[in-house]
Amino acid sequence: MKGKLIMSISSSLNKSLEKLGPIGVFDSGIGGLTIAKAISELMPNEQLYYFGDTAHLPYGDKSAAAIQAYSIKICNVLLEQNCKAIVIACNSASAAAYELVKEYVGSRAIVLNVIDPVVEYVVNNFQTKNVGLIGTRQTILSEVYTQKLNKRSPQTVLKSLATPLLAPMIEEGYFDNTISHQIIEEYLKAEAISNIEALILGCTHYPLIKKEIIDYYSGNVAVLDAPKVVSVQLKQLLQERELLIGEGNREHQFLVSDYTESFKHATSLFFGQEVNLKHYPLWE
Ligand code: DGL
Repeated sequence: MKGKLIMSISSSLNKSLEKLGPIGVFDSGIGGLTIAKAISELMPNEQLYYFGDTAHLPYGDKSAAAIQAYSIKICNVLLEQNCKAIVIACNSASAAAYELVKEYVGSRAIVLNVIDPVVEYVVNNFQTKNVGLIGTRQTILSEVYTQKLNKRSPQTVLKSLATPLLAPMIEEGYFDNTISHQIIEEYLKAEAISNIEALILGCTHYPLIKKEIIDYYSGNVAVLDAPKVVSVQLKQLLQERELLIGEGNREHQFLVSDYTESFKHATSLFFGQEVNLKHYPLWE
């Protein structure tokens, strides 16, 4: 009797420990660290398990089928780590693979993308306005923002433009300098995204150039990005399911599928502090 009781206590303890696994975050590379950073700031007790698929970046120029295959592989890594939530911290993967990932993961973890929380924000704040969107080719051509907004808020006029130079530019450390100013200006003055009241930064790299974009518009256009809204929504979901941990200081884990010193350097830049970056080959 006593043995049974101990077994049942230890199995429910195991269950609760299982539930309190890390928050998994993945991206094609290091851009998703802008989301990871916001999550770690809002929920400092949580452990992050970050996966950057640097062997396959940029996702923005890949087919939807390739991105789906990479995303499922990464989810397996995150699920093996017992992640209680998986955040697809990449617009291109959110556009191409969210539905598939959600179905694949099922009840094993909460799955969040970086598009829905921003769409929700637009629905609540810019319903009758002209809203611009910039992102990778994959994100813009998928028309996922247009479809989601059309469903929720048909009055919103969405004007979009693919800006494929921006992610590699940022990854190379080109921001807040004369070159980045010029490239940003060249894109933002395009007719395709003229006369807007808000601009969605539809790529997780772009928070690093948010200030330059705000300056370009002299503060007259609201510049919307994902880190804050996504982390707030994640916190809410974890709270609702009683999955938030009260205290904890487990070290965050940062993995990449291809390792170079320049990734290591850029990772610290994106996360805002030194990180211990590890190599985890995805296809072996
Ligand atoms: N971080 C990715 C996104 O949000 C862009 C980088 C890439 O093309 O892989 O779409």
